[in-house]
Amino acid sequence: MAADGTRSQQIIERCLALARFSEETDGATRTFLSEPMRDVHRSMRDWMERIGMQVELDAAGNLRGRYPGLEPGSPDLLIGSHVDTVPGAGAFDGVLGVVIAIALVEALEGRRLRFGIEVAAFSDEEGVRFGVPFLGSRALVGSFDSALLARCDQNGKTVADAIRDFGLDPDYLPAAVLKNNFLGYLEFHIEQGPVLDNLGLPLGLVEAIVGQSRLELRFCGHANHAGTTPMLMRKDALAGTAEWIGLVEHEALATPGLVATVGEIEARPGAGNVIPGEVRASLDVRHASDDIRVGAVDRLVNAAGDVASRRTLTVDCVTRLDQAAVTCDHHLLARLERGIVAAGYPVHRMASGAGHDAMILAQKMPVSMLFLRSPGGISHHPDESVRPDDVEAALQTGLSFLENLA
Ligand code: HGY
Ligand code: MN
Ligand code: MN
Repeated sequence: MAADGTRSQQIIERCLALARFSEETDGATRTFLSEPMRDVHRSMRDWMERIGMQVELDAAGNLRGRYPGLEPGSPDLLIGSHVDTVPGAGAFDGVLGVVIAIALVEALEGRRLRFGIEVAAFSDEEGVRFGVPFLGSRALVGSFDSALLARCDQNGKTVADAIRDFGLDPDYLPAAVLKNNFLGYLEFHIEQGPVLDNLGLPLGLVEAIVGQSRLELRFCGHANHAGTTPMLMRKDALAGTAEWIGLVEHEALATPGLVATVGEIEARPGAGNVIPGEVRASLDVRHASDDIRVGAVDRLVNAAGDVASRRTLTVDCVTRLDQAAVTCDHHLLARLERGIVAAGYPVHRMASGAGHDAMILAQKMPVSMLFLRSPGGISHHPDESVRPDDVEAALQTGLSFLENLA
């Protein structure tokens, strides 16, 4: 592959092509094992097989390509990211990390290293379809349990159904667990925030990934006629939820470094002339310190109970994710930093506010991440973008990292 702008241009074009594989006509929407995922797999399989990689699809729908090392039995370096998206996504969140990984192998032009490279395209990191993230990478670390298989999506389909509908067999999930010994995991990913763009920097060396909690709350009151029910006789579940959401924002504003979001809300029965009797709301809370995050979650769950009792509502709450913060491996970071310097780019160390599959792989191996600038700090939106020169910077850093590791 030429070292001029053509390889970064090809990476961006490949990401844009994959973004067209979507469940919707406008914007990229690709959830766990949806039909458009087959098109993504077909393209990626072709790109990997063309450069001599052995490709397989595991029982969790992760597409995995292997580029063997010089010696049989040599350890592997795992490089990957996810290929599912949030609804109405951009073209680079997740996917870019897999396309860059494939481009790195391509840039080796057949040369074998002292270690093998496994490229992983994880089937689900966002958790949109089943409300639990990291379904793909969990399979590699063996934490895909029966409770997870039984989780239902909005159509009542279980995760096991989704796997079978895709033509895979949940019984083979144990075979998806990583077997070889690994030097570690490397993930290229867009920053998804404004830091690098504000600093005018192309790359960010990720030192830690903040911990995150995801919960589902259900406020219950009493549906009734919107026209005939006096205000003081109501049990309005949505008015109660709205009061609580204000407290969520207040808690986050009052706690340095804390972010808290209610991103999903569903009011039933959902008619304009009916007082909502039931509301489901999501809660996403993140912080670099697990103690601060867990403390905030406890306060917000208690606040929901206080609001409910004041309004003669009930509220129940289920925790979908309690993911501890993850520190990236110092040795891998030192090598990645040398790669950035060798490639001639400034080094900026930072934390990740977004969650990533690296949090799951960290259960089994040392992990590292390299961020690319997000112009305008935009992500989880069709306007998400990357700059070709930043993609080139990441590629050059990745190649220096491989040489250094070899
Ligand atoms: O939500 C996140 O942090 C990631 O984009 N899944
Ligand atoms: Mn995302
Ligand atoms: Mn992502």
